[in-house]
Amino acid sequence: MSDIKKVAIYPGSFDPLTLGHVDVIERALEIFDEVIVAVLHNPSKKALFSSAERVDMIKQSMNGLSPVQVDTFDGLLVEYARMKNAVAVIRGMRAISDFENEFQMALMNRKLNKDVQSVFLMTGLRWIFTSSSIIKEAAQFGGDISDMVPEPVKLKLMEKFPKLNG
Ligand code: PNS
Repeated sequence: MSDIKKVAIYPGSFDPLTLGHVDVIERALEIFDEVIVAVLHNPSKKALFSSAERVDMIKQSMNGLSPVQVDTFDGLLVEYARMKNAVAVIRGMRAISDFENEFQMALMNRKLNKDVQSVFLMTGLRWIFTSSSIIKEAAQFGGDISDMVPEPVKLKLMEKFPKLNG
């Protein structure tokens, strides 16, 4: 048995974090010693929350869970993974519709860095239809999303979308 810590990167937009993402993080912690939740910082991509806000929400939602680090990255994911000595990139898989895009990205990442493995984790059935975009869409019009996001995210969504306050 090796003493080397197995680190995985869980990258994404996380605009915002959902309970589906949290489910994937918890599953990843069953396999890896440390998970770095890496928020893509891309100012040219329109987002509801700034990357700093997204990092804050994730940190609050993870509540200091020690094997989870939260960070931002820009540029190539595999370069970031190399810098962090990560052995794997985690992606959550919900339905077959996720597959094509994920497959393409995983193969490109492998071509760019063969030392980092892509690991796909199935989200819990409960979260199969959950996505940040559908949650934002519902929240914008006052739809109840409170059982789909962690509490700190719900509070931030209520700030952005006054209709959520009832
Ligand atoms: O949550 P998302 O938006 O599906 O996450 C996509 C993300 C951030 C994982 C992907 O866009 C990414 O890795 N971007 C960084 C640039 C990169 O390395 N792309 C893949 C190879 S071209």
